[in-house]
Amino acid sequence: MTDVTGVSGVPHDLDLSRVPSHVAIVMDGNGRWANKRGLARTEGHAAGEEALFDTVEGALDIGLDWLTVYAFSTENWRRPLDEVRFLMRFNEQLLLKRRDDLDERDVRVRFIGRRGGRVPKRVLRRIEETEALTARNRRMTLTFAFNYGGRAEIVDAVRRIAEEAKSGKLKPAKVDEKTIARRMYAPDMPDPDLLVRTSGEHRISNYLLWELAYAELYFTETLWPDFRRADLFDAVCDFQARRRRFGNV
Ligand code: IPE
Ligand code: IPE
Ligand code: MG
Repeated sequence: MTDVTGVSGVPHDLDLSRVPSHVAIVMDGNGRWANKRGLARTEGHAAGEEALFDTVEGALDIGLDWLTVYAFSTENWRRPLDEVRFLMRFNEQLLLKRRDDLDERDVRVRFIGRRGGRVPKRVLRRIEETEALTARNRRMTLTFAFNYGGRAEIVDAVRRIAEEAKSGKLKPAKVDEKTIARRMYAPDMPDPDLLVRTSGEHRISNYLLWELAYAELYFTETLWPDFRRADLFDAVCDFQARRRRFGNV
């Protein structure tokens, strides 16, 4: 980590003219953070809130346009019922508590994921309210991947394509990458340039499978509740030292 910092703690070696346009984060390690302290796993989730909002501030500091965070996966329903219930309530409360602040900061909040299934109606209402409240904001888009699965997203797109093909609106031979991309949950969202995963796990865990095709991957041992904007800046500096080729030479 660099110790030379400029205004608002942004390191001098972070080139503000080459900030990635979209950073996606897998906020992982809450349970282990809590375990290490002899706390319940849910305490780790609660501690992740400060990490998230400090990271959002850091993203605003460097002028990031798109920040996407993995809050609950389609596989997380497999967890003990108590933890699932906690996470539903926690995310709902987090929206209630933070949405006015985010709105004041000109942040547009959106959600990607399946909006039905086991997600409580109350939570869905908060999601819709928050999206409506912040819909006109333009400084940054903060997307929560909630009840999100990369495969589920592709399945949902394929279903739509199949329906459109059946009704004659779409010719199978015309299906290309754009056809699929346009049927993802957030078709206007650019693909992530940088994926950050905390807690030392080196996997994607069904996150943004389609969209991550050419993302740079950055892994850190830091557990999510300990993550702060300085860690985001480290990731962005690391990203800026890479050479992306997109299959070219
Ligand atoms: C990430 O932390 C938060 C969610 C998946 C909701 P974990 O709960 O996965 O924490 P670990 O990986 O068990 O430490
Ligand atoms: C991915 O983390 C999902 C979220 C961070 C919301 P997990 O902790 O669920 O992933 P695995 O089980 O370690 O792959
Ligand atoms: Mg985990």
